[in-house]
This record gives sequence, structure tokens and C-alpha cells, in this order.
Amino acid sequence: MQITYLGHAGFLVETREVVLVMDPWLSAGGAFDASWFQYPCNHHLAGLVQERLADSNRKRFVYVSHEHKDHFDAAFLQTLTSDAFTFLVPHFRRPVLRERLAEIASEDFVLCEHGERLELPGGYARLFLDDSELNRDSAIFVRLGDRTFLNINDCKLHDQLRDIAEEEGPPDAFGAQFSGATWHPTCYDYPPEEYTRISKRKMISKFEATAHAIEALHPRVYLPSAGPPVFLDPMLIEKNFEPVNIFPRAPQVIDWLGKRLQKSFPEFRAPEWMPGDVLDVASGEVVAEADQRVTDAEFEPYVRAYAARYADFFRSRRVQHVSERAEADYLDSLKTRLGDALQQKLDGFMLADRIDRPLYVRFSDAPEHLVRVDFARRVVAPATGVEEEHFYELAAPSWELKRVLDGVLTWEDFALTFRMRLNRAPDVYQTLMQGFLVMEPEDLNPFCAHILELESRAERIVVEAGGCRYSVNRFCPHQGGDLEEAWVEEGRYLVCARHRWRFDLHNEGLAEQADASIHAIPLEED
Ligand code: FES
Repeated sequence: MQITYLGHAGFLVETREVVLVMDPWLSAGGAFDASWFQYPCNHHLAGLVQERLADSNRKRFVYVSHEHKDHFDAAFLQTLTSDAFTFLVPHFRRPVLRERLAEIASEDFVLCEHGERLELPGGYARLFLDDSELNRDSAIFVRLGDRTFLNINDCKLHDQLRDIAEEEGPPDAFGAQFSGATWHPTCYDYPPEEYTRISKRKMISKFEATAHAIEALHPRVYLPSAGPPVFLDPMLIEKNFEPVNIFPRAPQVIDWLGKRLQKSFPEFRAPEWMPGDVLDVASGEVVAEADQRVTDAEFEPYVRAYAARYADFFRSRRVQHVSERAEADYLDSLKTRLGDALQQKLDGFMLADRIDRPLYVRFSDAPEHLVRVDFARRVVAPATGVEEEHFYELAAPSWELKRVLDGVLTWEDFALTFRMRLNRAPDVYQTLMQGFLVMEPEDLNPFCAHILELESRAERIVVEAGGCRYSVNRFCPHQGGDLEEAWVEEGRYLVCARHRWRFDLHNEGLAEQADASIHAIPLEED
């Protein structure tokens, strides 16, 4: 088995009999309304993938892990003319991914259930699904001949890795995300020191999760992947050059993991590879190097030159926004549409009254235009300013919100543009507020039902920390991570393996910075 790295979360897996392309994000238009771009640039690999998928001597497959645009590149998939390959598609409750794939291609589909085995020439593939409403993602395991590859990309199934390793043995190659990709703290209005502190904590926490995954799996080689992207829009570009943020690059995690795993897994190794490099899975060695390479020391000039190639694109977008804004009633009518869209979400939001603070949404380019979402009274109305001590506020460019209202972007795409600023008081994560902001109206009630189902799970487990034993809920209140696979930090925090929420065992199991608890009870010693 050979694996060619396609950049970001993309892999081209090949044997004599099989071509399997995973998450090919190769087109030049970026993702999330041109806010994310591939690093290093990989657009030149589109031709290689098209050529391999036209090789009629082998069985060909394209796997799309989920609907995020840095994995599901519709523009690139539309360029594939061959009708002789099969899409491997995770069977999520929400049908959007398979419906969109059906719109852009009439090729074969195989809808894969969680853990199901799909026979391939010389082996099989299995998909593992995280279909927990707020997150929808999948991982793929491939066994071809006597070699194996587990690619979890940015799917947070860290609590299931030990089970997968028990069933399939340690994978030869293991691909997983090591950097962050969320609007917290990226878009929050924190003072600089606080922003740095939170970013560093989240960065190390993600590295630690990667270390735990490697310790659970013992792979022959770890493949850093699924990010980070770079930001080429002038309004975002400085994010690339912050001294500390949640977007560390591969050399940093490889160095950190090398030290962290020195004792627990001294066999650790990981290539610092470029898009186009080819890995021989049997040896774990890169056997062919791409011509186009960039070192970490060249990062800033490389990204600034990359951005310069898009300068005209972003300039003409700005001109278009300015001319749209000059239209009569533009802001008033957009504010009315925004209020209507939020009211539509609110009307069908079963658990709205559990949110105890209002949400304000304003145009960052016209801050006097804002609407207020009152969850308790289920009313959205224009407002003149924030009046409460406890609130959540989002400010985004009017033109970006217009793209959501026009149906060009989903609310989740919008959240990933990172073009907004956020503020919350108190600084506490609320799962329901997050769901309201990033989900489509039709997904809110399945999400609420999922939360109620999680709350109804009564199973408890016993954990040990700092020499004491505690009874706690087995399943994480965030998205149901199995706390059997949690670990303890600082002798008192139980850390969920999925998104690494920390629950304080010394404080009844309350989550840090989130309104959730695993209801920890200290147990008397016998
Ligand atoms: S499931 Fe997200 S932190 Fe536990």
C-alpha cells in the first residue's frame, strides 16, 4: 500500500488493485466563503487525482468524510468525469451530504453504516460515524493486503480508538488532526494575554489528545493532517502570524509528540511531509518527494506571496459589497430578514427556554443595526443596545450574513468563516446556544432530542483521581463521549477524550467554562 499526501485531510491510497481517494480538497477557491485555503498549496495535485481515478485497470473509490467544505470539495468533484468509481458515503441522519453528492455526480454510491465492512479487492474498508447532531463526521479504516490505514481526519471518535485497535490491531498508518478549527477563541474579544492563554491551553490539549490516540493505537507511523488551513483574505491574514493560536503547524506537533511519547511509545515517528509526497506503508518511509516544498521558516513569506495571488479576488469582492450596501434600504431590509431567519429557528427550537440569556446579532459594519433573540419569550426583535449583564453577542459583516440569508452559506459554514467577533458574559460555553447559532432550523429539534437522550442515560462509572474514587456519569453531557476513555489531569480534572472538556472532580464534576456536569460524588473507602 502506498499513500500519497494530497494536503490538508486528503490522501490517495493505492495498491495494484485499488485507488481510494479520501477528502480531496484541491480546488483553488478555498472553503467557507474563501476564508480557508490549503497549506501548503496543493491545487496542482488535482490532475494527479483525476488521472488515477481514470485508471480503468483498478477499482476506484472516493470517500468524503463529512460535509465541511475543506473535506467535501464540490468544485473539484464536479471535474471528475469518470463514471467508473464509487463514492463511499457515511450514512448520517441528515441527508445533506449524500443529496449534494447526488446533485453533482451520478456515480455509484455506497452508503456506509457505522462500523460496517465494505469488501474491496484485496481487503476491506470500514467507516466509523460520529452522528451526534452538533458534530457530524466520520473516520475510515482500510485493510488492503497485509497493510492498514486508519484515518480519523477531524472526527472526534477518540473514545472508540481502543476498541478499533482491539478489533483490527494497531494500524500501520494513522492520520489525525492535531490543530484546532473553531471560532473559540479565534473570534472572541479577549484581551491579548487571555487570548494567548486560552489558545495555548487548547493547542496543548489537542496535542495531548493526539498523544493519547497514538498510545491507544501504537501505529507504525502517524500522519499529521486535516489542517491547519491558512487565511488569505486581508481581513483574516494576520491570524496566520499570531505567535500562539489554535493553528499550530505539523513540525510543532511532531516535535512535541516526540518528547511527550519518549517513554510511553518510543517507536513514535511521523513524516514532515508535503502534498505530493508518497509514503510506503510497509516501511513507514517517504519514498518519493514532491518538487514543491516549503519549510516552516519560510511560512510567513510563503503565505504573503500566496495571499498576493488572491488580492484581486478579495478587492473585487470588497467593491461589490460596497456597491450592494449603497442600495436604498439595504441595511434595514437585511436586518428584517435576519430577524425573520432567527425567529424561524427559534419557533421550532424545543429547548429554547433553557437558554437564560439573550443573544444579540449585529452588523459589524453598521453596529447600530442589531437584533435581540429572547429565548425565554421566544421573540426576536430589533434592539438599540445590550442591556443585560449576562448576554451573548455576535457581530459579523452585513455582506457575510447576507450570504447566509441568501442560502449561499449554511449557518455552520458561516461560523467557520471566522469573519465575526463574539462576546459572552459570563464566559461560559452553552451547548444549546452553540447549537442555535450553527445549526439549520430543521436540525435543531433532532439536536434537542439528542440532548434529552444523553440526559436520560443513567449509567455511572467509578474513576480514580488524586488517590480518591468518584462515581460519575459515564457519558459526557457535551456530545456523549464515553468517559471510560477519559483521563485525569492535575489530580482532579476528568478530561473527555472527544473535545477535551475538563470536569472538576473536586467541584461535583462541573465542567470548566461550560454549564454542564457529570455529577461527581466522592466514594467512601471500604
Ligand atoms: S463529547 Fe465533547 S467533550 Fe465530551
